[in-house]
Amino acid sequence: MFKRIPGTKDILPQESSSWQTVEATARRIFSFYNYQEIRTPVIEEASLFNRTLGATTEIVQKQMFLIHNQQDTYALRPEGTASIVRSYLENNLEKTSGFTKLYYIGPMFRLERPQKGRLRQFHHIGAEAIGSGQASLDIEVISLAEQLLKSFGIAGYKIKINSLGCPKDKQALRVDLKKSLPEKLTQLCANCQQRAKNNVLRILDCKNEDCQKIVKTLRAGHTHLCPDCRRHFQEVKCGLNDLGISFQVAPQLVRGLDYYNRTVFEITHSDLGSQDAIGAGGRYNNLVQDLGGPELGAIGFAFGVERLLLVPNTLVGNPPKKLVYLITLGEAAKSAGIKILNQLRCAEISADTDYLNKSLKGALRAANDNGATFVLILGDDELKKNTISVKNMASSIQKEVAIQNLTKELLKPFNK
Ligand code: HAM
Repeated sequence: MFKRIPGTKDILPQESSSWQTVEATARRIFSFYNYQEIRTPVIEEASLFNRTLGATTEIVQKQMFLIHNQQDTYALRPEGTASIVRSYLENNLEKTSGFTKLYYIGPMFRLERPQKGRLRQFHHIGAEAIGSGQASLDIEVISLAEQLLKSFGIAGYKIKINSLGCPKDKQALRVDLKKSLPEKLTQLCANCQQRAKNNVLRILDCKNEDCQKIVKTLRAGHTHLCPDCRRHFQEVKCGLNDLGISFQVAPQLVRGLDYYNRTVFEITHSDLGSQDAIGAGGRYNNLVQDLGGPELGAIGFAFGVERLLLVPNTLVGNPPKKLVYLITLGEAAKSAGIKILNQLRCAEISADTDYLNKSLKGALRAANDNGATFVLILGDDELKKNTISVKNMASSIQKEVAIQNLTKELLKPFNK
């Protein structure tokens, strides 16, 4: 028997109603903030991600699902931001819409070692606001992320924010770190010794405790920020305070993607164990230009849906719908039943029947197992009279109704 690939998940019917709720809630909240949905392909040219996420990042080095054909290398998208900026430019949205607020819901793929909360196919609910560098937009985006969490009924999260500064500031920080590192190098974990060569900033948010201790001695606060970036960060913090949003400033927060500058943030939840980020995001002011577009500020974030569903939430599935279950007795009733089912469904009443030729007893059990609120029984006697028996499963009251009045009769209690 075939099995699913490690790190992928089947979302079975009993779980899918929570997924539908999380998605519907997100769409509702996005609409209040005037974000519109964008859907991009799950497959892109691999070089899009090399270029935007950074050739030395873990995602590009180790985690891309690559598909090689004769001339090209494609990748299953590991995240949404790069594809959305590609689409924004390819479809000239900077000319037609200018400042654009987009949201997306869909699968992402990373070839990671699977563990709790870490999958190879997972799902993002994300937002990208492209076309403004203003601090007020950072405040909107972070407050939107928090509003989503509140609407999902999630509490107990922590919002951590930092400013990486502009590309010049980031470079100054890299130089600083490189200067102070050599004497501590051997005390760092093997990964960080590698990062010291090709992605020194990532040492700052290494989770290894020994590395963390060393990091604390390396760097004090935000001394690398230029006056403009410092002002921007100050405005963001003040705006969040004004909205009553609790956050922690985390000077070691760098994030694993190269496109970030200025504000970065991460939202963690202690119930998650080692993979504790439920969502994260930040500014990427140079990405549009790096992909051949004009100089435009942009910021966004993404939540991992599987992780949102792992922490305590109120995202219970939709209440079971009211189902009408038709039981037919005999061939003539069976074919008449097809029309009746069609009539009910066209009137937006959920209706089903038995397709396994069950006995009356077996069909009643199936109706019960399906949570039917009404059972309809149609046999030869009823057919002759053009009637049908309607049984209310809660009260056990049964009555005979003219087939032509059936929809009206069933809609009465549905409308209450
Ligand atoms: P990211 O931090 O790589 O950011 O992913 C965002 C969220 O996706 C994480 O916080 C986590 O909840 C979830 N996630 C990531 N990897 C996995 C995995 N292997 N299994 C399960 N969940 C996972 C981004 O992808 C950026 N594009 C976010 C962004 C949007 N920044 C600006 N705009």
